[in-house]
Amino acid sequence: MKISVVGAGYVGLVSAACFAEIGHDVICVDNDSDKIRRLSAGEIPIHEEHLPLLLERHLGQRLNFSSDLGEAVRFCEAIFICVGTPPSPNGEADLSYVEGVAREIAHLLNGPKVIVEKSTVPVGTCEAVSRTLLLSGVSPMDFSVASNPEFLREGTAVSDFLFPDRILLGVPDQRSHSIMTQIYAPILNGSYYLSPDAIKGSTCTSTKLIISSVKSAELIKHASNAFLALKISFINAVSIVCERVGADVRQVSEGLGADSRIGPRFLNPGIGYGGSCFPKDVLAFRSVARSVGYDFNLLTEVIAINETQKSLFIAKIRNALWTLRGKKLAVLGMAFKGGTDDVRDSPALDIILSLRAQGAEVRAFDPAAMKRAAALLPEGTATFTPDAYSACTGADALIVLTEWPEFANLDFARVRKLLRFPIVLDGRNLLNAQAVRDAGLTYFGIGGDIEQPLSPLNQFEDIFDPVHVLYEQAPPQVVNTETQLA
Ligand code: UDX
Ligand code: UDX
Repeated sequence: MKISVVGAGYVGLVSAACFAEIGHDVICVDNDSDKIRRLSAGEIPIHEEHLPLLLERHLGQRLNFSSDLGEAVRFCEAIFICVGTPPSPNGEADLSYVEGVAREIAHLLNGPKVIVEKSTVPVGTCEAVSRTLLLSGVSPMDFSVASNPEFLREGTAVSDFLFPDRILLGVPDQRSHSIMTQIYAPILNGSYYLSPDAIKGSTCTSTKLIISSVKSAELIKHASNAFLALKISFINAVSIVCERVGADVRQVSEGLGADSRIGPRFLNPGIGYGGSCFPKDVLAFRSVARSVGYDFNLLTEVIAINETQKSLFIAKIRNALWTLRGKKLAVLGMAFKGGTDDVRDSPALDIILSLRAQGAEVRAFDPAAMKRAAALLPEGTATFTPDAYSACTGADALIVLTEWPEFANLDFARVRKLLRFPIVLDGRNLLNAQAVRDAGLTYFGIGGDIEQPLSPLNQFEDIFDPVHVLYEQAPPQVVNTETQLA
């Protein structure tokens, strides 16, 4: 099929590349002409696993970039809107980019198309997009507006796209139902996985196709992100209780998650969630509820717990070091999570800023996010080092703020020799506490006197799953189901 994608950000770029990968012809447009020039030359502006391979395979063939929205609209059967929806000062999602794109599309339409809202938006946005097109004089015969929310975690976005838990289609009519199911057919019928070049992923895909009303789809997306944020805040609150009563949150988390009704994922405590989605989506969902007369106070508490995690960790650093003024701190991690270079709303940056404001000298390293962090932090906030060991040289303590797997594999005997004082503060419970202690270092984690977990935990499940569960012999079996929401 012929698909256009508007917005070449984290979501648009990954979606465009993955649509090409599953066999469609794609034009991806962005109003940032410099970004388009770089992408057309094969330069990828973000750190995302598998994206370089997909561009190498499809650029100039099934995947093309353009600054010309008119060309993209004329070309396609379906047009996906993937522009940013940043928070307004009052917490509501700012939909001006979505509205702007809808207006432009209205003037460019050259025949019946499905317009698909993929950015995370409040319920009612697709209806507003339809209204915009109708007010611009477009015939209702010439368009349908569908909702197809993304569930792409940065760092694993390509495999999340190609091996999804579910594909959610909020479709208003038969035309959009038919086009949307054709677009995702290679994933739903498993034909993509039979290709010898298919990206390797989970051993068995069991993608659920969920067909719902447009409004339900919009709401499922907001509710999903709010629920995941709630799960993280819940375990973070539990970690505080664990610390105060002398229990170990890793064990509690494992025991809790073993109940299939709860599930083990998104129960890793830490310095709080960040990124371009959870903070803004929780605020936006609360605003949606308020706008219809419901005070979703539970979400207010989710946000408050998330903020508290940062201040508690800073207090933990201060307690370990007594005072911060003049202390040299080795900080590992600036991205909001491992596997990405994204520093938007990163709790790591908030903590670095606070440590600096309290007089500490920060020597920081991140495998991918240093350039973006340097662009965002005021000059002089931190010295960036070429690797983790250089950050540790002569530092008074080592602080881990992002769950990059490579930090877990550091040579702690070497770290011990480099540090002035043997102090390690792990804001993500990423390190093997015993290995750190065995190297003669004092370990402070989140949520108690961290001993070995009950059984080996796959700490990286949420960072690198399912890419690292490779299937070597047989292609995955497809056990897909379709659910028609009543
Ligand atoms: C965005 C939303 O913030 C998120 O909620 C949603 O689920 C998906 O889209 P992301 O892809 O991370 O997420 O946004 P961003 O990286 O900011 O990319 C948006 C892109 O759209 C940028 O490249 C920007 O230049 C482009 N854009 C924005 C347009 O092409 N036209 C516009 O009018 C506005
Ligand atoms: C999120 C959604 O998960 C994804 O479906 C899509 O809607 C985009 O937004 P993303 O923000 O890229 O993805 O990353 P995610 O893996 O969800 O992590 C978000 C934040 O929560 C990170 O700061 C991460 O460190 C934190 N986190 C995650 C925890 O603190 N504990 C956990 O157990 C899991």
